[in-house]
Amino acid sequence: MSDLEKISSIFNAKINSVKTKDELQSIKTEFFGKNGQITQQFKILNTLTPEKKKEFASKLNNIKNDFTDQINKKSFDIENIEINEKLKNENVDVTLPIRPYQQGKIHPVSQVIDEITSIFSEIGFSVAEGPDIESEYNNFTALNTPEDHPARDMHDTFYLEKNKKLLLRTHTSPVQIRTMIDGKPPFKIIVPGRTYRCDSDQTHAPMFHQLEGLHIDKKVTMGHLKGCLDYFIKEFFEVKNVKMRFRPSHFPFTEPSAEVDIGYKIEKDKIIIGEGDKWLEILGCGMVHPNVLKNVKVDPKKYQGFAFGIGIDRLAMLKYGINDLRAFFETDYRWLSHFGFDPLDVPTNYRGLSK
Ligand code: PHE
Repeated sequence: MSDLEKISSIFNAKINSVKTKDELQSIKTEFFGKNGQITQQFKILNTLTPEKKKEFASKLNNIKNDFTDQINKKSFDIENIEINEKLKNENVDVTLPIRPYQQGKIHPVSQVIDEITSIFSEIGFSVAEGPDIESEYNNFTALNTPEDHPARDMHDTFYLEKNKKLLLRTHTSPVQIRTMIDGKPPFKIIVPGRTYRCDSDQTHAPMFHQLEGLHIDKKVTMGHLKGCLDYFIKEFFEVKNVKMRFRPSHFPFTEPSAEVDIGYKIEKDKIIIGEGDKWLEILGCGMVHPNVLKNVKVDPKKYQGFAFGIGIDRLAMLKYGINDLRAFFETDYRWLSHFGFDPLDVPTNYRGLSK
C-alpha cells in the first residue's frame, strides 16, 4: 500500500465515524493543518523528479479534493442533524399570554385625535393636514392678519429666518388657506396638528396641538356652528347635556368671532364637564371673514361658513384628568404606561370612544 493509499484509508475510517463539529475540526487539522498528513505530502513534491512529480501531484490533488468534498458534506449533515434536534426539543407554547411589558401604549394626544376624527367624520368632515413649517403668508397675511398684529410679534412666533418669511405655524388655521386655494367649495374639513408659540408654563407648552374646523358652503350659518360644537362637546365628553356659552371675541380671520366656554363643576376633587356654574374656555371660532375667502378665490357673495380652533391637549387633560401639560411631552415611559391607551382600543362612535 502506498503512503497515499494509507492516508486515504485512515481518512475514510475517521470521517465515517465523525459525529460532532469538534471532531470534524480535528480531522481537518489532522490532514490539512500545518503539519497535517496531506500538507506533508505536498512538501514531498519538491523532492521528486519531474515525471514522478507530475503523477504524484495529480494523485495528491485528487485525494485532496475528495477529502475536502467529504468534509464539506459531513459539515452540512452535522448541521442538519443539529437543527432537527433543536426543532424536536424546542416547544413553543402558543397558549402563553403575551408579555404585558412588551406592549406599547397610545399617547393620550394621539388617542384624543382619533376620538375627535371619529366624532367629526360622523357628520361629514374629512381630515386635512399641513406642514409645521409655514410661510408667513399662509399663517398670517392670507388670514387677514395685519402687519402690525401683536400675534406676529417675535415674542409669540418662532421665525425661522431673519427676513420672517418662514415660521413654525402658530395655529392650524393656515391649513384653511391651503385647502381652499387647492380646491373648490364646498369645504368641510378638520385639521388636527402641531402648533408652536413662545410660551411655557403648567398649561402652555411651546409645542402644542390644535384642531381646526372649517365648513364653507352656500348656506352655512352661525346656527350650524353652534349645532356642530354642541354635538362635538357632548360626544367628546360623553355627556347628555352641556352648558355652553358664546362670548364675543376677536380674530382677524373671522367676523363675527366668539370664544366658547363650557360649564363645569368640581365634585370630590373631580371635574364634571357640562354642568355647574364655573366656566372653562375651550375654543375660538367665528364666521370666516370675507377677506379670507377673497384671498383664496372663493366668492364671499356665494359662499360663507364657519371656522373654529380647539386646543387638543386641553381637551385631553380635561377628559382624562391630567393636570400638567408639560408631562405630555416629557416622554416619560412610566407616565405613558399610566395615562396611555391600549393600541387595540381604537375609538369609534358606534363602539364607544373611551372604555
Ligand atoms: N386660530 C385661532 C387661535 O389659534 C383659533 C380660531 C380658529 C379662531 C378658527 C377662529 C376660527 O387662537
